[in-house]
Amino acid sequence: MAAHRIVTLPGDGIGPEIIEAATRVLDAVGSFTYEPHLFGGAAIDVHGTPLTDATVAACKGADGVLLAAVGGPKWDSTDPAAPRPEQGLLGLRKALGLYANLRPVRPLAALYDASPLKRELIEGTDLLVVRELTGGIYFGEKVRRADYASDLCEYSTSEIERIARTAFEAARSRVTSIDKMNVLETGRLWREVVSRVHAEEFPNVELEHQLVDSAAMKLVAAPRHFDVVLADNMFGDILSDEAAMLTGSLGMLPSASLGEAGDPGLFEPVHGSAPDIAGRGIANPLAMILSAALLLRHGLSLEAEAAALESAVDRALAGGLRTADLGGSATTAEATEAVLRELSNA
Ligand code: NAD
Ligand code: IPM
Ligand code: MN
Repeated sequence: MAAHRIVTLPGDGIGPEIIEAATRVLDAVGSFTYEPHLFGGAAIDVHGTPLTDATVAACKGADGVLLAAVGGPKWDSTDPAAPRPEQGLLGLRKALGLYANLRPVRPLAALYDASPLKRELIEGTDLLVVRELTGGIYFGEKVRRADYASDLCEYSTSEIERIARTAFEAARSRVTSIDKMNVLETGRLWREVVSRVHAEEFPNVELEHQLVDSAAMKLVAAPRHFDVVLADNMFGDILSDEAAMLTGSLGMLPSASLGEAGDPGLFEPVHGSAPDIAGRGIANPLAMILSAALLLRHGLSLEAEAAALESAVDRALAGGLRTADLGGSATTAEATEAVLRELSNA
């Protein structure tokens, strides 16, 4: 069988350190070719822009895209005219039409005690954040003058319908739809459209609506309650970092960004470039490795390989693997090797 063609975007900070972990474990389960591209701050330094046309074209022509993380203090200017690494990420999501971001939160038994939350609270949690990724306040008109700034939050009915379908299709029992309908016009449209899609197309899935502020509270007070959490771009961003702490660390949470069926997806950890630990070889590579598993599952329809990889991660953790963020001392390379060992023992 021909090798799957993957574009890799190492990006900045810990990005280059963890992307290697993903390609090493992928090579242990299948046949892949990798085409690396500069992205984010690394691309700004060389090309003056975080995302070149050549990179967009390469991603569109690939079977899937693996991205580590972008950003860092070097490019953290508040000058609106200065290019930002994060613009590359938003531009790529838009260019590839990646409107559906799936962020599974599945705390592993081996890590129950690595979470700052009580074990009895998180036990049995298995939820999925479905985040709208190409609309909302991230993409509305931005205005900046010397003494004034604004960000427009916009959603159309069709944008809400398609992400609502993604959420209902993924649900096993219940969709909790998040909004701020008590304040925002976009929140009222969101609630209306989600309710209609539910009534017309998915009446057998339970639907509940929750305001984002109390949902943030409930996510740590009663996480087992949630099955699928459906949220707009901004609320989904915030709630997923919160939900990461159920797994013990932000370094554990993978994500899949998907567009229309058949188009290449983008797979990246939920966390950022972790500038505070970059260059030391101590980053947790598991969110990146689990993102590679989502590439196998959602991008390449290789379910058996995806499950094998996830199970290898589970067993490595059960065997005691802990990077610094999980309270241990394993390096990035040691963590990767622990997963590779479990894969070869499978
Ligand atoms: P961050 O996610 O980079 O880091 C938050 C904290 O979590 C830090 O203490 C960091 O050390 C820790 N952490 C994150 N990933 C880890 C890992 N794999 N292993 C161990 N520890 C890990 O968030 P931040 O510091 O707010 O942002 C840093 C930069 O990353 C910013 O420029 C931001 O815009 C960017 N960012 C990029 C992405 C992305 O590329 N997808 C996502 C989020 C943030
Ligand atoms: C994420 C990140 C990005 C986002 C940033 C870096 C633009 O936080 O992927 O969660 O807000 O979408
Ligand atoms: Mn985020």
